Amino acid sequence: MIEFGLESLSHADLAYQWHSGFASSDENISRLEMEQCKALAANGKLVVAKRINGTDIPEFVAVIYYDVENSTWVLGGLMTDYNVRGKGVAQVLCSLALGRLIALENPFGRSERIVSHVARSNDRPKRLLELAGFQKVASMKSSRETDEGEERWIDEYELKNRYVALEMLKKWAANWNLPLCSSIQKRSLLTLPPGNNIADWHAIFEVQQKYGT
Ligand SMILES: CC(C)(COP(=O)(O)OP(=O)(O)OC[C@H]1O[C@@H](n2cnc3c(N)ncnc32)[C@H](O)[C@@H]1OP(=O)(O)O)[C@@H](O)C(=O)NCCC(=O)NCCS
Repeated sequence: MIEFGLESLSHADLAYQWHSGFASSDENISRLEMEQCKALAANGKLVVAKRINGTDIPEFVAVIYYDVENSTWVLGGLMTDYNVRGKGVAQVLCSLALGRLIALENPFGRSERIVSHVARSNDRPKRLLELAGFQKVASMKSSRETDEGEERWIDEYELKNRYVALEMLKKWAANWNLPLCSSIQKRSLLTLPPGNNIADWHAIFEVQQKYGT
């Protein structure tokens, strides 16, 4: 069984370990600091998928976070375990993170940007972002070089097409596990804390789409 939801502060250190192990072997991921990871978990901004394994120790299969700085929201740190790639896990996780962000933080109503940074050479997440209404808006040279000592370029994707984003999120909120391949869909669970109801989010997406805020 794979459970999608928000990581709590009590397991933020384990989420950090999983994240940093992954980040150290994948140069497409910028590593978070432990304190950052704890702050994200404490604020419900660390969105995870984990295998329910009958113990108290979470077995992470995917992570994403969202955070805000200077009125710009960033979706970052997306990663899925090799064993479950290509099965829709990242799509569900992105929808959960973006849906929660849009429903609870109202970035559109406050004219706040939502962006994500992707290494130019990394095509895998780009289609996911485009499906959610993001477009490439800028490229910048990274301060980090590649393992081969070459320049790294980062593309900035911004959520530009709200209609597409809200349409995608409405479909997702009506049937949250539909993007998953059938073998995972049957073994998937969405657990959210009180105050997080995706049927309510669906209504918010509909209003935002209709009235533009
Ligand atoms: C990028 C990454 C997170 C994608 O994770 P994922 O869980 O495999 O993503 P999904 O399964 O949602 O989508 C991946 C592909 O599987 C396909 N897929 C998804 N669900 C599917 C299903 N039910 N049936 C068939 N194919 C499916 C998607 O269409 C997508 O295809 P595409 O690559 O042609 O667009 C993963 O490759 C990863 O961790 N990469 C390393 C870290 C990284 O690059 N992170 C991004 C930093 S910006």
